[in-house]
Formats: sequence, C-alpha cells, structure tokens
Amino acid sequence: MPRTDFHEDRIHDFFYKNGELYCDKIRVSKILKKTGTPAYIYSHKTFTEHLATLQKAFRSAKPLICYSVKANSNLAVLRALVKKGAGLDIVSGGELFRARKVKCLGKKTVYAGVGKTAEEIRAAIKARILLFNVESIPELEQINAIAKKMRKKVNVSLRINPNVDPHTHEYITTGRAETKFGIDFEKAREIFKDVKRFTNAQVSGIHVHIGSQIETGTPFVEAFQKILEFIDKLEGTGIKIKFLNLGGGLGAIYSDENPQTAEEFARKILPLFKKRKFQLIFEPGRFIAANSGILATQVIYVKETDVKKFAIVDAGMNDFIRPAFYGAFHHIWPVVKNEKAHGWVYDVVGPICESGDFFAKDRELLEMRAGDYLAIMTTGAYGFTMASNYNSRPRACEVMVKGTTFKVVRKRETYQDLIRGERA
Ligand code: LLP
Repeated sequence: MPRTDFHEDRIHDFFYKNGELYCDKIRVSKILKKTGTPAYIYSHKTFTEHLATLQKAFRSAKPLICYSVKANSNLAVLRALVKKGAGLDIVSGGELFRARKVKCLGKKTVYAGVGKTAEEIRAAIKARILLFNVESIPELEQINAIAKKMRKKVNVSLRINPNVDPHTHEYITTGRAETKFGIDFEKAREIFKDVKRFTNAQVSGIHVHIGSQIETGTPFVEAFQKILEFIDKLEGTGIKIKFLNLGGGLGAIYSDENPQTAEEFARKILPLFKKRKFQLIFEPGRFIAANSGILATQVIYVKETDVKKFAIVDAGMNDFIRPAFYGAFHHIWPVVKNEKAHGWVYDVVGPICESGDFFAKDRELLEMRAGDYLAIMTTGAYGFTMASNYNSRPRACEVMVKGTTFKVVRKRETYQDLIRGERA
C-alpha cells in the first residue's frame, strides 16, 4: 500500500501557510532562491525547544544533558545548544575539535567510542573532559598509561553492554552481547576487583547506551535495572559510583511512530534513581535534532517507465543516506503546494549510479514537475553528518533559521573543495 504524504504535524516548526512551506517565520522557497539546492535547513527554535523539553522533564534530577554531536555537528547547532546549557557527547578527535570551537566546557564533555586512538586520548585529557566512556580493558589500560605519562588523573566510566534488545534497527542496536560495544557485567566486575591498578584513570562512573530510535521505555528500564543491580553489588564491596551516564536513544517521530515523550520517559525512569546520589548524564542526539531539519531538493526530471514514475531530484544518497542504508521512511513535502494537483505514485530518487539511491518508493505525492522543490522531512539528525562526496558531488549547504532571519552556516562545497589535498 502506498503511504500518503499529505498530513502535517506539529513536532517542529516547518508548516504550511497559504500553500507555502515555512521554517519558523520564513518561506522555504525564499531561502532556496538565495542558496539553491540541495540545502539542509535547520530551525533554531525546534533545536532549542527539544532540548528545553528534556531539561524540563528531568529538572528534578539535575542531569547533565550532553547533546550527541554525531547527530548534527554543525557549529551553529552546537553553539545554540551549548548556549542553552547542553554539554556535548563526542566520539572522535574531530568532534572534540568542534566542541572546543563552540567553547563547550571540558567538564561538560563526555567521550565515547570503541576505538579512541592515543592521539585522541591525549587531546581529550588536555581538554580536561569530564569522562571517558571506556569500552574495553585494553582501552582502559591505554588511557591509564597515557594519563600517567602526562601526570594527570582522569575520570572514566565503564560502558556496560547489558545484553538488552532495544527493538530497533539492527544497525543501530548497541546493547546486545553480539555487538562491539561496551563491556559485559562479568568483565566489568573483574575490572572493579582490581581497580586500584588504574592509578591515573579513576573508574568513577557507569555508562550505558543500548541503541537508537527506541520508542518505548521498556528496554531502557530493563537495561537500567540490570545496571542498578550491578551497582548495588559493587557498592556493597565499598566501591563508589559517582556518574551514571544513561546514553541517548530516545525515538523521534518520522511518520506514524508514537514514541514516548520526554515527560513519559522521565516518569518511567526517574523513580528508578530516586534516593540515589549519582550525577546523571544523558546523551540525546536524534530526539533533539531529527525534527529540527529538512533537506530541500529540486526535481530535475520526471521520468516515466512502463512500471514506474520517477521524480529524479538533485539530492542523492551522498547527501542523505538513511533511506538507502536503513530503509528509513521520511516524509516528502512539496515546498509550494499546488492545491489543485492530483496525487500520483512516485519513486523519489537521486542522480547517483546506484539503485539504492532513493528517498521514497511507491509513495503517493502531489503531482510534480521539473523545477519543483521538495522537502525531505526529519533530516536534522544523521543527515549532513553522514553525507559524503560519492560520485564527486559537492556536499550541500546548511542553513540556520532563527525567527525571521536565516544564515548559511556551512557553504555549499565547490569542485575545488572536492580535490583539496589531492595530487595527480
Ligand atoms: N551515545 C552513544 C554512545 C551513541 O552511540 C549514540 C548514537 C548516542 C549517544 C545518540 O543516540 P540518539 O539519541 O541519537 O539515538 N546513523 C543512525 C543512528 C546511529 C546512532 C549511533 N549512536 C541513524 O541514522 O539512524
């Protein structure tokens, strides 16, 4: 059954007025006249409001909310969130570089990832980050040795893999035993038995992140309960846990999902931590970013075959890979709605030489013509950050809308950018 794309929702500040798609107080078509396509367009208001929703829901627990940079790492996005009190969750030296550019305090920065290199570890120690989320014993040994050499003491959290199924896409499941992430309970217990040998990497926290786009509280509660039981046993042996990092993973609304709200999530999990004295940390990415952005693109051709009608657009899987990679569903809205147009069933595809280069398949959309603009919705998270230059396509520009003004916060790449650093 083809899915229809005619409905609107209010989980973000992209909406129609007189048939024109707006972002906050600006017509998207007006932006596109200046910037061309493809263009990522972000709503400052949506970004900051999603952060505020989380801050409000968890206020009583005073958590540190570290926005997950990987979801959308544009400096303007990071700056907006850091200004509103967010810390940052990073996974690489590059993300650390970005965090420092927007003046995120070290003590509000946490660093995860299974493959931190010695150089990255050194840079993070220098930046005085709050915590390394450690994913293996060799990594813990490495951090300890580097810190010792630098004559520094650093805090680490052990990332536990609780072997809980988050019921999400396989590629974004991280809390099951067969994934590469975290340390199982048994190994973690062994680490704590001999924790004094890590003289410069002080194990003072536990981290858990079981996956992404998790729509109900149940897997979270299951994982957190296992973690709390583990901590209880540890504390029985005199070990103190100061930081408890509960990761990210909250689902966003892409289509007809009905994920828990921040309030519901808080109501479900906060009672678990009542009477406990941990500094709670969260690492939300998608919840804050997904609905805060769209990818605007222009129809180049409409091509009809015996079996299909293709809308060929100027964005490709290099710009936005989620449909190709995860089979993800994203609404596609016209930037200017022709109220008289009929619905037709289209495949919306990019110009790249792969059959996986699509944004929608068998989708009922208002009839379109070459030159029309489309908005691929809910692309603020894992959109631009996963873009590449495949097929030697310069990456799109990024635009931030704030009220009645907009600013290009990343220029469209040029052909010169494509060959920077190359030599023939
Ligand atoms: N913390 C850690 C340790 C993570 O690995 C992740 C995401 C997050 C926090 C943020 O998770 P979120 O709140 O955004 O669910 N590219 C995929 C998503 C990959 C998620 C990777 N880790 C997608 O487009 O669906």
